[in-house]
Amino acid sequence: MNYAVFGTGVVGRTLAAKLASLGHKVTIGTRDVDRTLAQTDSDESYSAWSAAHADVSLATFADAAAGADVVVNATNGMSSLAALQAAGAANLHGKLLIDVSNPLDFSQGMPPTLNPVGTDSLGEQIQRAFPEARVVKTLNTMNCSVMVEPGLVPGTHNVFLCGDDAEAKKEVSDLLLAFGWPQDALMDLGGITAARATEQALPLWLQLWGAIGHGNFNFRIQQAD
Ligand SMILES: NC(=O)c1ccc[n+]([C@@H]2O[C@H](COP(=O)([O-])OP(=O)(O)OC[C@H]3O[C@@H](n4cnc5c(N)ncnc54)[C@H](OP(=O)(O)O)[C@@H]3O)[C@@H](O)[C@H]2O)c1
Repeated sequence: MNYAVFGTGVVGRTLAAKLASLGHKVTIGTRDVDRTLAQTDSDESYSAWSAAHADVSLATFADAAAGADVVVNATNGMSSLAALQAAGAANLHGKLLIDVSNPLDFSQGMPPTLNPVGTDSLGEQIQRAFPEARVVKTLNTMNCSVMVEPGLVPGTHNVFLCGDDAEAKKEVSDLLLAFGWPQDALMDLGGITAARATEQALPLWLQLWGAIGHGNFNFRIQQAD
């Protein structure tokens, strides 16, 4: 399968490396390939990461999406719509679009606020902006290390997914199983409006991060028998 992973940050890199390790062809999407590769100032620069991950390509958002069967949105949530607009609706048409981003606004400092919040969500905004894409929101309620290695957190814990296209959610479920998630960890919350709920889990996640002192934890839904 050909994947375009939008996002040169830690989340995009982590998901791209996992997908490549599973045998997929992966291209990371960025605004400007030359500018991204020119960042050589630290061990954490994209070029340093890329040198260690020669199996992952880099292209503009449009070029990455054009050759992809599936697009993963792991861009800054305040800019995800701009990144997807740069990709072009034609390059997203009919494709599974997995959205892992959160619309966190850090412009007023910590803690960040959500925008949109309450009556809308980034997942819904993306589905409305690209009605021919099959949007599934998932994995946004945990650290990216846990996304691709759920065993980092012992015991049973959950990954939520939502979207309006049942077949798209089945494809995402299969991918989550390939990432190592047990079937009973997957919780389908319904249509894409449920993205409001999973995005609104972020203020709680961030508080827990501060209280726990690291990001390798996750939500566990315990039900009565
Ligand atoms: N950190 C985690 O473990 C975690 C967990 C769950 C969800 N998330 C969510 O995952 C997403 C990615 O997080 P991250 O920390 O890896 O990266 P990030 O710094 O939030 O985003 C980096 C990406 O956003 C793109 N971007 C920034 N401004 C843009 C603009 N004006 N127009 C178009 N694209 C723009 C960048 O493009 P360039 O490549 O061109 O610079 C880059 O690819 C976020 O939405 C975050 O909330 C993070």
